[in-house]
Amino acid sequence: MTGVNEIRAKFLEFFERNGHTIVPSSPLVPRNDPTLMFANSGMVQFKNVFVGAETRDYVRATTAQKCVRAGGKHNDLDNVGYTARHHTFFEMLGNFSFGDYFKERAIELAWTLITKDYGLDAKRLLVTVYSEDDQAHALWKKIAGLPDSRIIRIPTSDNFWRMGDTGPCGPCSEIFFDHGDKIAGGPPGSTDQDGDRFIEIWNLVFMQYEERGPKSDGTTDRVDLPKPSIDTGMGLERVAAVLQGEHDNYEIDLFKALIAASVDLLGVPAEGSARASHRVIADHLRASSFLIADGVLPSNEGRGYVVRRIMRRAMRHLQLLGAKEPSMYRLVPVLTREMGQAYPELIRAQSMITETLQLEETRFRKTLERGLGLLDEASGKLTKGATLAGDVAFKLYDTYGFPLDLTQDALRAREISVDTDGFATAMAAQKAEARKAWKGTGEAATEAVWFDLKDKHGATEFLGYDTEIAEGEVRALVKDGKPVTSLQSGDEAALVLNQTPFYAESGGQVGDQGMIRTVGGRFAVSDTVKRLGDLWVHLGTVTSGTIKAGEAAELTVDHSRRTATRANHSATHLLHEALRQVLGEHVAQKGSLVDPARLRFDFSHTKPVSPAELAAVETMANALVLQNDEVTTRLMDLDAARATGAMALFGEKYGDEVRVVAMGQKVRSQIPSSSKGSDSSSAGPVRAWSVELCGGTHVRRTGDIGLVRVLSDSGVAAGVRRLEALTGEGARRHLAEQDERVRAVAAALKVAPAEIVPRVEALMEELKRLERELSDARKQLALGGGVAPGSGEAAASGMAEINGIRFLGRIVKGVEAKDLKSLADQAKTQLGSGVAVFIAVSDDGKGAIVAGVTDDLAKRISAVDLVKAGAAAMGGKGGGGRADMAQAGGPDGANAEVALAAARALLG
Ligand code: SER
Repeated sequence: MTGVNEIRAKFLEFFERNGHTIVPSSPLVPRNDPTLMFANSGMVQFKNVFVGAETRDYVRATTAQKCVRAGGKHNDLDNVGYTARHHTFFEMLGNFSFGDYFKERAIELAWTLITKDYGLDAKRLLVTVYSEDDQAHALWKKIAGLPDSRIIRIPTSDNFWRMGDTGPCGPCSEIFFDHGDKIAGGPPGSTDQDGDRFIEIWNLVFMQYEERGPKSDGTTDRVDLPKPSIDTGMGLERVAAVLQGEHDNYEIDLFKALIAASVDLLGVPAEGSARASHRVIADHLRASSFLIADGVLPSNEGRGYVVRRIMRRAMRHLQLLGAKEPSMYRLVPVLTREMGQAYPELIRAQSMITETLQLEETRFRKTLERGLGLLDEASGKLTKGATLAGDVAFKLYDTYGFPLDLTQDALRAREISVDTDGFATAMAAQKAEARKAWKGTGEAATEAVWFDLKDKHGATEFLGYDTEIAEGEVRALVKDGKPVTSLQSGDEAALVLNQTPFYAESGGQVGDQGMIRTVGGRFAVSDTVKRLGDLWVHLGTVTSGTIKAGEAAELTVDHSRRTATRANHSATHLLHEALRQVLGEHVAQKGSLVDPARLRFDFSHTKPVSPAELAAVETMANALVLQNDEVTTRLMDLDAARATGAMALFGEKYGDEVRVVAMGQKVRSQIPSSSKGSDSSSAGPVRAWSVELCGGTHVRRTGDIGLVRVLSDSGVAAGVRRLEALTGEGARRHLAEQDERVRAVAAALKVAPAEIVPRVEALMEELKRLERELSDARKQLALGGGVAPGSGEAAASGMAEINGIRFLGRIVKGVEAKDLKSLADQAKTQLGSGVAVFIAVSDDGKGAIVAGVTDDLAKRISAVDLVKAGAAAMGGKGGGGRADMAQAGGPDGANAEVALAAARALLG
C-alpha cells in the first residue's frame, strides 16, 4: 500500500523531474490576498505571478499546499465527520506553469503521473472539459486515447474555474475516478451525478483570463492574462483513498493512524455514533494544529474565532466520547509523527500547539460545565418544538463564552430551537450600553465615530507578529473626525482595514510607520493607534492619488524602524530582569518607552543606581544577548502565566488570555535551589531567564539585539528611577562617538589613548600646583610690601596715614573672597599698628570686603563698622566678625572704590 507521505513525495518528485521547482506551501493565512480568510487552493500564493504583477526565478512550480476551508466563503465545518470527503484542513497537490507550457503538456504530465507513476487503471478514469473547449477535448483523445464517451463536455461554471469574483480564471478539465458499480451515482453531467461513484481527483485549470474590478457599477472586466498558464489541484486525501483502494477519505493510512490514537486515548471504538466523533476529532486536530503553527491563535475575532470554533467542536466531541479532562493535546504527537516530516513547522510549534490546545480545552470544559448547567435550568421546562429565549442564549454567549451554534447543537436532540432574532437584539442592546458607558468616561465625542466603525466592520485582525507585509481591505476612511468614502492627495486622515501588520502603540512600544498602497494611491502611515481596544487606526497622509473605501491595499511596515524597535523592546525585558538580579526583587516596572532610537525603563528603587551597579546590569544583559537564545511567545491563561512567575504590570488590565514572552536561559547557578532537582526537559517559560506578559513585538533570538548600552540612571519621582539605553546600531554608533572623543583627547594630549588617564591625572596635579602658586603670588602682590607711608608711591599703593593711623586700603584682583582674611592678617603684621581694608571683586561682579584692625587700635576703631560702611556702598547689608577682623559683601562690586572710600572716611 502506498502511504500519504509517499504519494505526496512521488507527486513532487515527478514534477521536479519534469523541470518544476518544488516550492514550499505558503502559510495558511494568505499574505497577498485580503479577501481570503485562509489559503484554499494551491494557486493562491501564485496569484500575482499569474496576472504578471510578480515574477519569480522559475516558470514551472509544484507544491503540496496546506488549505483550510472553514469560515469565510468556503465553509465545510458543519459537514465534517458526517461525510466521506469533507475536511476543514486538507492538502492540495499542484503543478503550475507561468506562461510556460499550456494545455497539451499539462494533460500529458497529468496522464503520465496517474497512469504510469501512480499506476491507476486508465479504464477507470474519465475526464470533463468545458463545453466550448474543443482543443482540450481533442488533446485528451490524442494523449490519453480516451473515447468520446469518457470525455464529457460540461457547459456549467463547474468547468470554468475562478479564484473568486475577481482574479485569474479559465476553463478547466477535471479527472474523475470510477469507484465501480457497487456505489450509486452517475458520471459528471448526468442526472445522478451527485452520487458517490465517480469522484473528482484532479482539476487542471487552463488559466487564460483575469477578472478585474469590481467597477463602481459592480461589474468586472475580463482581460487576457499576459501569457496562458496552468494551475492544477489534486486533493491529496482523495487520491490517497483511490490509490489505497478506499472510497472514504477517512479510511486512508493517515486518518486511520489519527483515529486509532483517539480510540486508544478515549477507549471508545470508532463505531456507531462515535465514528463521526472520532472523525471530527482527527480532522479538527489537523486544522487546529496547522493553524496554530501558522500563528492563528484562538480569539473571539476573525481567524482566531474560526480556529476557536474548530477546536471547541472537536473538544465537545471528546467530551461526548467521555473525556473527563483536557485530552485533545495528547493527540499532537501522533500528528507530528505522521505529518511533521513534510511540514516541519508542526515540529517547531509542537509545544505551542500542545499548550494552546490544553489551555483552550481547560477553559472550554469550564464553559461547558457552567453553560450546560445554565442551559438545563433555562430549558428544563421547554418541550419539543419550543424556542429558547434569545436573551438566555445571549447570556450564555456573553457570560460563559458559549457560542450560539453550541447552544443550538445542545438543544437539537430535544428539538428545541433558539430565538436567533432575540439573540441579535440582546447583542445590539449590549453594544449600545457599552457605547453609553464609554461616552460617560469623558472621552471626546468624536470617539463615537470609532464605535460606529467597530459596530459596522468588527475588530481589526493583527497580523504583525508574523509578518510586516500583508494585504488588507480598506474598511473605512476618517477625515476631520468623520467617515468619508475617498481621500485625495494631501489629505490627513485615518485608515481602518480588516487586517493589518502594523503594530498599534501599546505597552510602551510606539506604533508602526510605513506605507499603504492601493491601485489608485499611496498613504504614508506616521503612527498606528488602537481605538476601543481592538480597532487599529492608521494615521497619516495621502502622498499621491486617491484612496477609496472598499479597495484592496498592500500594507508595508517600515522594516528598519520596526527591527530597531523590536531590539529595544526585547532589551527592555533583559534589563528589567538584570536590574532585579543586581538591585533586588523589589525592582518593578513603572513605565517604559520603546521606540526605534532608544529605550527608557522606569522602575521602583529608592536610591540612585551606582556606576558599578549599572555596569553589572549592562554586562548581564549583554551576556544574555550573546547566548543568542530563541525568544518564545506563548498564549496562556492569566493565572497559569502568573504561576510561572511571569512579570506582570501591577494595576494593568489583562484579558483572561495573555501573551507570555520568554527569553534567555537560566545558568545553573541562577536557578533557585528548590527547582534545581527537577529535571524536566520541557522548555517551559518558567525555566527561561526573563518571562514577561507582553503584547509587543520581539526579536527572534536575543542575538538580534546586537549590543546593549546603558546610558544613564536618573530619578523621575520619589522611589522611581529611570534607565535609558541603546541597542544594536544605535549602541554601536554611541560607542563609536565615545571612541572618537577619546581619540581626540589623546591627540590633544599627545599621548596614546591608554595613557590618557595618568596623563590627565598628572596635568590636574600640575594645575593644582600652579593655582596654588598663582594664589600666593597674587596675595603677595595685593600686600604690595615695603612702601613707606606718606610717599607718593604709598598713595598709589593704597597706603596712607590718617589722623596718625596707618591705613592700607586696596581693591585686589584675582584673589578669592576666602583669602581676604589671611591677607588682612598679614597686612596687620606688616603695619605693626594700623588698619587694613581689602575689597575683592569676583568674576560675577560681587564685592567682598574684609577689614583688619591691630589690637592697639581695636578699642577705638571697630573692623565691623568699617566693613558695614563698605558693604553698604556695594548694596550689601550687615557685616560680621569682631572689632579686630570683620567681613561683609554686596552685589555691586562695581562700587568697590566708593566702598573703600566709605570705610576710610570712618577714620576721619
Ligand atoms: N485552483 C484549482 C482548484 O482549486 C486548481 O488548483 O481546484
